[in-house]
Amino acid sequence: MPFLRGEISPPGDKSITHRALLFSSLVKGRVHIEHALLSGDTRSTAKALAKLGLSLNIDDQGAAATIDVVSPGIEKLRESILNESEMLQSTPINFDCGNSGTTTRLLAGLCAGLSGGVFRFDGDASLRSRDMSRILSPLQSMGCEVEYLGAQGYAPFQIKAKDLHSKDIDLKISSSQVSSALLLAGLVGVAQGGGRNCMTVSTPFTVRDHTFRLLKFMGANIEECGVNSYKVFSLASDLAPCRIVVPGDISSCAFFLSGAAVMPGSSLLLKGVGVNPGRILVMDTLARMGVSILKENSRLVCGEPVCDLHVQSTLGVRLRPCNIEAASIPSGIDEIPAIALAFAFADGRSVVSGAEELKHKESNRLRLIIENFANAGVRIEETSDGFFIEGSRTIAGGSFWRTNSDHRLAMLGMVASLAFERPLIIEEVDSAAVSYPGFSRDLAVLVNI
Ligand code: S3P
Repeated sequence: MPFLRGEISPPGDKSITHRALLFSSLVKGRVHIEHALLSGDTRSTAKALAKLGLSLNIDDQGAAATIDVVSPGIEKLRESILNESEMLQSTPINFDCGNSGTTTRLLAGLCAGLSGGVFRFDGDASLRSRDMSRILSPLQSMGCEVEYLGAQGYAPFQIKAKDLHSKDIDLKISSSQVSSALLLAGLVGVAQGGGRNCMTVSTPFTVRDHTFRLLKFMGANIEECGVNSYKVFSLASDLAPCRIVVPGDISSCAFFLSGAAVMPGSSLLLKGVGVNPGRILVMDTLARMGVSILKENSRLVCGEPVCDLHVQSTLGVRLRPCNIEAASIPSGIDEIPAIALAFAFADGRSVVSGAEELKHKESNRLRLIIENFANAGVRIEETSDGFFIEGSRTIAGGSFWRTNSDHRLAMLGMVASLAFERPLIIEEVDSAAVSYPGFSRDLAVLVNI
């Protein structure tokens, strides 16, 4: 079997790049974003901001882009959108969100607060199949007008932004996209003065808290108010210009981490990786399985914990099996496919439960994990809300690997193909560009035969 050796600086974090771009609209003046990810998804957010009237200057240096965003500030933005929509008699601003759920949901939260504006959201076939009622129903309950233009609950949809009422929302799903969308709506759309000028949003389990950390770093009035609960006060004035440095994306690193775990003799240094507590299931799980993962050079960057990760696997040592339950799924929601690869090589049965949300990503990831691994010869079985895998020393491979144009399945296929006895026939690999445009090149540099 080949192994992975070398050093890599992974591309900027997708979630944080989306937020840095979107939150720039709250600033009067310039936000300078360094090490931003420029990928299919974040380009969708950048294009949407240009439609809102912000100006963007992008210096694309491969995986790490520098983006300057200039905004007139939220009040001026609201006024110009209102004037435009009156002039054009409520002709909507149209957003094409492509494949990006984060763009759609966070942008809808922001736009719901721009009262007087009319906005339409649409995207590709995958985006049209993803539930949008999870953000639009709570936004409606705050006073936003929503019209579904196709199937109920899905894109395309239109929102007419109104002055929003303050609400305290206890979400039933642990989704950072939903919680972030509502916090943004509260920040921008709940009226100042008069009534209550704050709102709280909570989730059952811990989710990535990038929205809280970045808004706080930028000077917004937001605080933690209990476990998995945040309180945001409506924006009293525009935020000040600032510089944001985006950490490396742990979700992109996950494929290298689990690739190194299953290819004995691997040793990788992944530099400048964001290790937000709501994102570290992959590290914790591999460590529990016996993989050596050392954190070096730990620091805080714009409020986010960042470090270098040194991962090593030892020849002749089998990985221990491991179980993952509902409470920790949100902290690895995008990494379960990569974790499944490690489970496939473990010395015994590993179980994933409470992972229903995996059915509602860019593809039905639960289905694709089970189908692809089973075809490759892995002993995997579906359960009502997850799967279990009986690990094995060798896996045949040589099978067809379906991606359904899901970037994470494409990257997983490329790594799994190296670890299996025979290479996979991967449906396509171009979708990797949704989150990691240079993935196959970076992987090729690390592979040793
Ligand atoms: C994201 C949150 C997650 C994740 C997605 C990005 C974010 O979705 O799957 O890729 O940036 O907030 P949910 O929070 O809806 O689970």
